[in-house]
Amino acid sequence: MRPKLQIALDVGSVREAKQILTEEVLREVDIVEAGTLLLAAEGARAVKELREHIGAQKTLVADFKIADGAGVLASMFFDAGADLTTVIAAAGPDSMKKAQKTAAERKKELQIELYGRWDLELAKEWYQLGLHHIIFHHARDGAHCWNAADVEQVRSLQKIGYQVSVTGGLDKESIRLFKGVPVFAFIAGRALYKSAEAAGEARALKKAMDI
Ligand code: 5RP
Repeated sequence: MRPKLQIALDVGSVREAKQILTEEVLREVDIVEAGTLLLAAEGARAVKELREHIGAQKTLVADFKIADGAGVLASMFFDAGADLTTVIAAAGPDSMKKAQKTAAERKKELQIELYGRWDLELAKEWYQLGLHHIIFHHARDGAHCWNAADVEQVRSLQKIGYQVSVTGGLDKESIRLFKGVPVFAFIAGRALYKSAEAAGEARALKKAMDI
């Protein structure tokens, strides 16, 4: 099955996000993400307004990278209309468990965003806590060149049992590196929302997934 395409909207306002999410763009992307930058600018209200804009059927992620106050924050985003939200890898086990419990109670999902220091032993512990979806991430602040070692790390996470999404400065070339790897979703931000023709770019990224 082709991986999903997720658009990460790290823009400064809901107004901008809605302008990007035309009907044509919405036809091309599988998942819409209220990005961390948008949530910082507009709060949980951004999730509510994006839900109204995209309708009930499209999957919506609130990428807040929760570190603490996890139950409260997760319920804030789920109640605003998110299907998934994220905890950062640096969050402690108590926070992860609280966010996971909140998600499970609402039949929603939680994703761990990998940043900074982590290893496979830690990833196994999170899996045992009941978190089964992880985002393999290279930071926006870096200048990472995707390579074969990244693909191997993604495979190692999949061997633990995780559904793995991949993100951070993705383009067609980096997506092609994952040929044959059952990635859950490729998450693209700037490649899509900075493009003059976001729907066309989304089609090109999906084509890169099929090759
Ligand atoms: C930053 C994020 C981004 O939303 C995600 O990595 C996509 O970003 P881009 O494609 O613009 O690098 O989570 O923290």
